[in-house]
Amino acid sequence: MEAQMQSRLQTSPSRWLHPIAGALTLLLSAPSSLAQQPANDEVAQQAFNNSCRTCHSVKEGDNRLGPNLSKIVGRKAGSLPDYNYSPSMKEAGFVWDQDKLTRFMVKPDEVVSGNKMQPYGGVSAEEAAKVLAYLQAAGAQ
Ligand code: HEC
Repeated sequence: MEAQMQSRLQTSPSRWLHPIAGALTLLLSAPSSLAQQPANDEVAQQAFNNSCRTCHSVKEGDNRLGPNLSKIVGRKAGSLPDYNYSPSMKEAGFVWDQDKLTRFMVKPDEVVSGNKMQPYGGVSAEEAAKVLAYLQAAGAQ
């Protein structure tokens, strides 16, 4: 009886662990294989479309719920004359560079506290890098 139980204890974990380990390996390998994809134009545009396009355009003068992001790298924060910014964004007092934009995309409030970019859930640093590539390409046109 005891021997029977022991053999059940010994065999059951390996029966159950195998499929789980397999699924885990798949889960763990998926993000890193995504990260190795080249940040090509399509991937970058897709990232912008997914996370920003509901509220932003990259066309000059085309303000939507959010201000247009034409030539945003190197533009002063809160500086478009024809967009109604929050007081915090208007008085942010810095110029958008790659670092500021990336951090703003991940956690807007840590860069400009009291901004009104809402509802916005933030993106991962990986996603932010793709969006930045798109914004830079769009600004260079
Ligand atoms: C739900 C709508 C919404 C989404 C989604 C959104 N934004 Fe915004 N964004 C806004 C609003 C509204 C403002 C104005 C904020 C203020 O005045 O405080 C803003 C402001 C900004 C600014 C400041 C622009 C300036 O002229 O200083 C940047 C940069 C920006 N957003 C980038 C992004 C990026 C990049 C994404 C995608 C990763 C994104 N936003 C997603 C609504 C949005």
